[in-house]
Amino acid sequence: MASDEEEMIVTPWTVSGKIDYSRLIEEFGTQPITEDLLKRIKKHTGKLHLQLRRGLFFSHRDLDWILDMYEAGRRFVLYTGRGPSGPVHIGHLVPWIFTKHLQDVFGSKLYFQMTDDEKFLVNPDFTLEKSTGFAYDNALDVIAVGFDVDKTKIIMDVEDAGTIYKIAVKVAKRITFSTIKAAFGLTESSNIGIIFFPAIQAVPCFIESELTGENVPCLIPAAIDQDPYWRVTRDVAPKLGYFKPAQIHCKFLPGLGRGGKMSASLPETCIFTTDLPEVAEKKIWNAFTGGKPTVKEQKLHGGDPSICPIYYYDYYLFEEEDEKLNETYRKCRNGELLCGEHKIMLAEKVKRFLKEHQKKREKAKDVLDDFLFKNR
Ligand code: TYM
Repeated sequence: MASDEEEMIVTPWTVSGKIDYSRLIEEFGTQPITEDLLKRIKKHTGKLHLQLRRGLFFSHRDLDWILDMYEAGRRFVLYTGRGPSGPVHIGHLVPWIFTKHLQDVFGSKLYFQMTDDEKFLVNPDFTLEKSTGFAYDNALDVIAVGFDVDKTKIIMDVEDAGTIYKIAVKVAKRITFSTIKAAFGLTESSNIGIIFFPAIQAVPCFIESELTGENVPCLIPAAIDQDPYWRVTRDVAPKLGYFKPAQIHCKFLPGLGRGGKMSASLPETCIFTTDLPEVAEKKIWNAFTGGKPTVKEQKLHGGDPSICPIYYYDYYLFEEEDEKLNETYRKCRNGELLCGEHKIMLAEKVKRFLKEHQKKREKAKDVLDDFLFKNR
């Protein structure tokens, strides 16, 4: 549960407090996604993707420049990733679904990084075998999202160390300990692996350029928590003779509790892609809502969708049609829609989604090998 008084902390390893996204734009020095930029994107994508239309992706760096390059006939690569610390939840899918959309529209190649090394280094009780195991398991979720096998390479950090280490040392040589300490809040007692690790997460920004000898722009879709990595990487890029990687940042999908992002550390408020549909349904049934304590009060005063995870899931993932969403909002506000009814409607959509995703996950086992980078 994230209380309003708790200090806002957003780092790759901790997200807590009430998130003020405008403040993050200021503090991280990123740019808001403006109406003008949306219009420009729309020229290429046709109808804007739900996650852009509804402001889930809210901030960027150099996205306008990526479009300049693209319009001038240059290709760019996409890069995103996962720290395999357990099963994937539907919050993780948010940037991946958007990345697939970008791959479809712009025909871009995607590098997807599995940081089994990172999760081993930051979790005191993790063995390397455990995080590597999750990396191969989570790769099935990535494939299930529907990426193009001919344009997607999944990098397994430990397995692919041969290729990535050669680039990581070039990056690492140009970053000081004090920079990493400040950007990631590390201390004297942090293990030295995690001090080096940001150089590894920087590598896929440059891998296409390194492997082809052509300076290729890179765009990274991810939630805003990953931003410290890109701040450091952007400083290094020109020193290596490469373009600074561009970013497009999304907000966090909330958990099913009261406030706070969806996080695997709170499994009851988290919908995992591997949850049995009935288990997910039960979690939804137990979820916090923006509703009133009694049916009578709800009918009289209406609910508050602005704090309701059930509404958010429709808003960010499960209700594609704006008209239907607006209708849900209206009915909720004026007390026509009761929370129990809304939960049943959402649970049906989530169960359908999970059944489909789980089928695709099974099929992904047959093609996993074709997606793996394997030091190529
Ligand atoms: P990880 O595994 O913490 O998260 C994977 C991706 O999911 C995003 N994310 C969320 N998005 C929306 N709502 C949420 N509740 C939510 N929780 C997490 C994260 O921002 C991320 O995009 N170090 C990384 C792995 C990584 C990576 C990358 C991520 C390596 N290279 C490049 C993005 C881009 C990590 O541990 O992600």
